[in-house]
Amino acid sequence: MDGNGRWARRRGLPRTEGHRRGLLTAERIVRFAGEELGIPYLTLYAFSKENWQRPPEEVEFLIELMGEFIREKRKLLVENEIRLRILGDLEELPPSLREEVEKTLELTRGFERYHLNIAFNYGGRQEILRAVRQIVTDRLEGRLNGEPIDERLFRRYLYTAGQPDPDLLIRTGGEERISNFLLWQIAYTELWVTETLWPDFTPEEFLAAVEEYQCRERRFGQVLQP
Ligand code: IPE
Ligand code: MG
Repeated sequence: MDGNGRWARRRGLPRTEGHRRGLLTAERIVRFAGEELGIPYLTLYAFSKENWQRPPEEVEFLIELMGEFIREKRKLLVENEIRLRILGDLEELPPSLREEVEKTLELTRGFERYHLNIAFNYGGRQEILRAVRQIVTDRLEGRLNGEPIDERLFRRYLYTAGQPDPDLLIRTGGEERISNFLLWQIAYTELWVTETLWPDFTPEEFLAAVEEYQCRERRFGQVLQP
């Protein structure tokens, strides 16, 4: 979800106003993905490990906004049977936000049809290192027995354990880079970049991305027989 800051600057508004508008886009897209497209897994990249280096007022605002979203949308998630997961380290977040998050995680734990992942305090490299550390600990403490350390095992140690890899990655705001997002999981994900800034991103454009995705030939490194 990139481009909130630029959206605001172009209107002479503070960056935080861009984030506020961006949250409205996120809500609209979550609804559309589930209700109209029936997409079972949706991940929003909301706050990266690197985002802590932004000005403290902006960091504080983004954390507040996340708390607001979790609190205000809790009922909506439950009513629509959407299971929430947070990809990222919760331990480093303020206790008040953690409490709000944990409450929502608990309330939505039983849902299976729709999954909303919010990557918050997330970094792909950090996620991989965390998995390695946990595997080493589990092996040393005898919890892995003789299990081979292969891709199947490794996946179980990622935040996305039990979920399929993403089919499509949409990046708004025009930058053609990955920015530490789901590095392991997107090995064969289709990329779609748009110049549209996140607050201006619409369900119509989302649909256009999905339709283009459906025309792509996914080979996963293989040669397809004619
Ligand atoms: C939203 O866009 C990303 C986050 C919520 C951290 P940016 O804040 O990165 O917007 P630009 O790239 O400055 O326009
Ligand atoms: Mg940006």
